[in-house]
This record gives sequence, structure tokens and C-alpha cells, in this order.
Amino acid sequence: MSAVAPTAPVVLRLRGVRRTFDAELAPVRALRGVNLEIRAGEFVAIIGPSGCGKSTLLNVVAGLETADEGTVEVAGETISGRDPDWTARFRRHHIGVVFQFFNLIDGVSAMQNIALPAAIAGMRRRDAEARARDLLDLLGLGDRADQLPSVLSGGQRQRLAIARALVNEPALLLADEPTGALDSDGGLEILELFRRLHMDGHTIVMVTHSAEVAAGAGRLVHMRDGVIIDGRAEDAGASEAHGDDRE
Ligand SMILES: Nc1ncnc2c1ncn2[C@@H]1O[C@H](COP(=O)(O)OP(=O)(O)O)[C@@H](O)[C@H]1O
Ligand SMILES: [Mg+2]
Repeated sequence: MSAVAPTAPVVLRLRGVRRTFDAELAPVRALRGVNLEIRAGEFVAIIGPSGCGKSTLLNVVAGLETADEGTVEVAGETISGRDPDWTARFRRHHIGVVFQFFNLIDGVSAMQNIALPAAIAGMRRRDAEARARDLLDLLGLGDRADQLPSVLSGGQRQRLAIARALVNEPALLLADEPTGALDSDGGLEILELFRRLHMDGHTIVMVTHSAEVAAGAGRLVHMRDGVIIDGRAEDAGASEAHGDDRE
């Protein structure tokens, strides 16, 4: 695993991030004061049980969800507290997101699934299509350019989703359970791909509930009950961390 210099710039910084959802019985405190710092070139897996707040955390970083309290900085910009238009534009240019169920556009070709977000970000159509072809080649989908996502296998769809996430050269690649909808071979293939992208210098944050998947990353961050418990996950302090949601 390539080591990341402790002096590499911080690409993601969260400070005291809280998010509570209204629910019928009682409010759900999905994030209870998250602090996290990730440097350029890191491949970080955030691991924790279902319901501990992983997706909420990723969505807050992506600007798809807002924090109630705290600050979120991506690539040196504070993204918390911005209006939705600013956030959408920032995400388009600086953040790539990969989801468990791919979220591709079913009615257009593999190539257009990649080229469209580049065109929306302002790239000329011809350049966007050229870049899409390069990414298809890079991810082993060069012969699938004209096919619809629906005829591709799960693993191929996820590779396509990763290509799309990379098209605008994001500072940060986020992935929410990217292997969750794949069989174990397909999952390993996606993990290998992330490791390759990491070696190429991409900064990747992946959330997963699977220890096996997380083990592929360069750094593990443990999460439980809406907070990051980090290296204390395995020791007896974990039960104390459980009861104390202020840091
Ligand atoms: N939109 C929402 N409305 C209400 N509760 C939500 C919403 N999104 C997430 N939650 C709740 O917040 C908690 C954390 O959810 P989530 O971030 O999806 O966890 P994970 O991804 O770790 O499984 C869960 O209790 C979940 O039910
Ligand atoms: Mg989730």
C-alpha cells in the first residue's frame, strides 16, 4: 500500500458534524459529532454496522445531504452552509460519487453516461466524448461504448459508474457500499480497481459494512452510532464510546 505523506494537503475535513432526522417515534441522530481528516492520495474505508450513519456521512460530504451543525471542507472550500446551486456545481467539478446500485441513466449508451456529466460541467461535446472513450478503455469497457447499461453485468455497470465519477477529475472519489450489489468476484474486481486508482494518486473514501472489503483500503476508520471511534473499535472503550455521544 502506498504511504501518504503526513504533509499531503487535507482534501476532506469534518468538524463536529451532526445530522438528525425527524422520525415518527423519536428523532434519529444519524451523525453525532463527526471529526475526520483525509489527505490527498489516501484510500480510506469507513466501516461500521448497518444504521451507524455511514451513508449519511458520505451524503453530507457529497453535499447531497446537509449537516445541522459542524463544518465540512472539501479541497479547501467550506461546503457546509452553502445554497443548493453552489453545492451542485461544486460537486459536479470536485467530487465523484459511486453508489451501491450504480445510478446510471438507463436510456443512453455507456459512453453518454460518462460524457453527459462532463458536458454539463462545461466541456465541449467532442472533448467530453473523447474523455469518455479514454475512461472506457482505462476501465476495460472499451468495447461497450455503444451499449445500454441494462445489457451490462453488475460489475461492468459499477465500472461504468466509476468512469462517470472520474470524468471531471474530482479531488475526491466517494463510494457508498460499491461492492454491495455484486457477487464476491465482482466485488473483488471493483476493489482492485479502487486500489489501482489509489496507486495512480486518486483520493478515495469508501464506506462499507464489510470488513473484507474495508481491508482493501489503505486506512480504516471505524464508525458506530453516528461517531467515529477509530482505533478504539476493538478495545473495551467501545462500550463507553457508545454511551457518550459528545466528544
Ligand atoms: N432520510 C432519512 N430519514 C429518516 N431517518 C434516516 C434517513 N436517512 C437515514 N436515516 C436513519 O439514520 C440512521 C443512519 O442511517 P445511514 O446513514 O443510512 O446508515 P448506514 O449507511 O451506516 O447503514 C439510521 O437509523 C437510518 O434509519
Ligand atoms: Mg448505508
